Amino acid sequence: MTSPFFDHPYLSGHHQPNRFEADAPDLIIEGDLPDDLEGVFYRNGAEPLYPPLEGDYHWFDGDGMIYAFFIADGKVSMRNRWVRTDKFNLELDAGRRLFGLFGNPMTSDPAAQGTRYNTANTNIILHGGKLLALMEGAPAVEMDPRTLETIGDHTYGGAITTTFSAHPKIDHFSGEMVNLGAMIHGVTGAPEIRYDVISKSGEITKTEFFEAPHMAPMHTFLLSENWVVFPVTPIDVSMERAQSGGPMTAWMPNRSVKLGIMPRNGTADQMRWIEMEPRHMYHELNVWEEGDKLYADVATANGTALFPDEHGNRLTHGETVQSLRRWEIDLTGKSDSVKETVLNERDIQFPRPDDRFMTRKTSQSFANINLNSRDGRIDGMDAVLRFDTATGKEDIYHFGNGTAAGELIFAPKSGSTEEADGYAITLIHPADSPTSELVIFAANDIARGPIARVIVPFRISNGFHCNYYPNDSDLYASAFG
Ligand SMILES: [Fe+2]
Repeated sequence: MTSPFFDHPYLSGHHQPNRFEADAPDLIIEGDLPDDLEGVFYRNGAEPLYPPLEGDYHWFDGDGMIYAFFIADGKVSMRNRWVRTDKFNLELDAGRRLFGLFGNPMTSDPAAQGTRYNTANTNIILHGGKLLALMEGAPAVEMDPRTLETIGDHTYGGAITTTFSAHPKIDHFSGEMVNLGAMIHGVTGAPEIRYDVISKSGEITKTEFFEAPHMAPMHTFLLSENWVVFPVTPIDVSMERAQSGGPMTAWMPNRSVKLGIMPRNGTADQMRWIEMEPRHMYHELNVWEEGDKLYADVATANGTALFPDEHGNRLTHGETVQSLRRWEIDLTGKSDSVKETVLNERDIQFPRPDDRFMTRKTSQSFANINLNSRDGRIDGMDAVLRFDTATGKEDIYHFGNGTAAGELIFAPKSGSTEEADGYAITLIHPADSPTSELVIFAANDIARGPIARVIVPFRISNGFHCNYYPNDSDLYASAFG
């Protein structure tokens, strides 16, 4: 018997768990589904199978649930499946939660010993012919791209058994995937990071190891055509602090950001570390080089509400609203300062470019934003934005107060080669609605509103990251043949 979930902002409202898997063929579509939009849209998010043991919860702790929308021949079908990690299977067999919050060994049931804590709940990508569900604390988990059946941990032939990034970078010009694994020795080991380059066909071609300045997760990193930058932000992980009753993961408001800068094909001994003011930064829009400068457009804030400080005090969403800012980094080594410019002050969550041009200069950004919610993470981001970073022009659509809009991503139309030539897609849950919608915009006219709404016959909980693969792309072909 499963007991009801306790009251928690991330277990109610837009976040209330569904706890079921479904197949929904030929969904009802309002409006006109473009005939040059054919491919697959995947989304990952946290869908806890059982209530946590401690009576506390964190949005990042739920079990990964993949939603796939297959768009072809004027129809859309949907399928959702949990990522059946070893953790998930162990708890399903036991009929209850066994792991402590975030896998905390001090609060886990003894029956969890010997099984890795892996939620696989953060991102879902195609690369090298494989569909991979990702979190940053465990290996990638391979799933069947059509059936969403879990195949198992994908360790690249036993090479990556520690941690895998939730945000590996795919360079569409080379087909390579560049990856990192942070905290590879766990919470109590040395704060070592691994860096991998993986070929288009899925073989590791390069690995480097280096020590981080302190124990910290690294949710994303910055990749350009020739450079990689590892941002160590002021989030600190300490088992010692947890053992003395403090938070295991804490925001350190007076600690600088350390940026490790390395040639993309270089070695760890070429790493140059520079510092900047404390910033929370989990997601970048895009990164590129011009002359001796590296430019990174990032969603960042001066603090975060995601984790308390080391004394347990937590900032509010209102105190930590993210904006879109540009970091300018000197690549010659003559200047160690980072110049920061605010590009857009909207309350932005996940900015995304036309992925095909990542690592090269772009100007079009797509993002879910918050216009009227008190707390966009809990109450939902209620609007979407296309922002031109070159002209400063905004193109906004507001879904209505109380709607939760997920990550807005660009979807190329068939045969397109120009930046942002196509559509923008997001998954929304309108306020108090029993249904969710996959909404499709013309990428160059967001303000016009959705041109098609694909109606999902039940509410989908708020999630994390999504990706779209057009059926004429190499990545789609590598997985679907
Ligand atoms: Fe993320």
